[in-house]
Amino acid sequence: MPKNILIFDSGIGGLSVFKDIRYQIPLAKYIYAFDNAGFPYGELTEDILIERTSYIIQKLCHRHKIDIVVIACNTASTVVLPTLRTLLSIPVVGVVPAIKPAALVSQKIGLLATPATIKRSYTFDLIKSFASISDVKLLGSTRLVEMAEEKMVGIPVNLSELDEILKSWKGQVDCIVLGCTHFPFLRKEIKEVLGRNVLLIDSGEAIARRVKQLLGNVDANEGEHLFGEVYCSASTKNEEALNKTFKELDFNPLQTLGYPKSLDR
Ligand code: DGL
Repeated sequence: MPKNILIFDSGIGGLSVFKDIRYQIPLAKYIYAFDNAGFPYGELTEDILIERTSYIIQKLCHRHKIDIVVIACNTASTVVLPTLRTLLSIPVVGVVPAIKPAALVSQKIGLLATPATIKRSYTFDLIKSFASISDVKLLGSTRLVEMAEEKMVGIPVNLSELDEILKSWKGQVDCIVLGCTHFPFLRKEIKEVLGRNVLLIDSGEAIARRVKQLLGNVDANEGEHLFGEVYCSASTKNEEALNKTFKELDFNPLQTLGYPKSLDR
């Protein structure tokens, strides 16, 4: 039987993780959900993040027989995992900034993430545990998250705007941890601004290996090729453009899941 894998983010960022997981497990049934009504997650309080993710994930776990949940969002993962693990009886995997592999290759690291992720105690603990002898610079930007969303619907990235955001890092870092799942979609542009020699590291491949391991190292050639389902929490004016991307990734057209007004605050 193919496995049902639920991947969740605030927006399109989790698709970068989905690509890595699908590379390792091509024949699973993928359900991708994004909370566009709550976007951007980097600006939400911890309580609201827990409430929104718990509601959406539980609803989809009831609708589909989900085998594993992947919170493909650093901002949410650093706070929601304990709650989700008490609510669900299936494995819940999160994504955290790849500080550990970065510290193995560099002592001049830049952590690029959302404004929330760079303030979390989880992030400080990661740096303390794995990169204490490195110089780790932190930069949190919601604008970068928006730029990745815009690129996905065909709006080109403004390189001078990106340059302005990243300019304090020029010559200061040689390895950047992409600590937000939206940022792998800006790889090309980040390299254009900071130079080809800067190493960019994300967590996608490591998460994919973990998912495969938790599913009992499923045989990637077992089952048949299935189209995925994609859900958002509110209708979007970008539906047509997004559906083009989803179709290329073998998803059926976008469905609106909704989010109850009574829970909205
Ligand atoms: N993709 C997300 C992350 O990895 C969150 C972006 C946002 O909504 O602020 O942190």
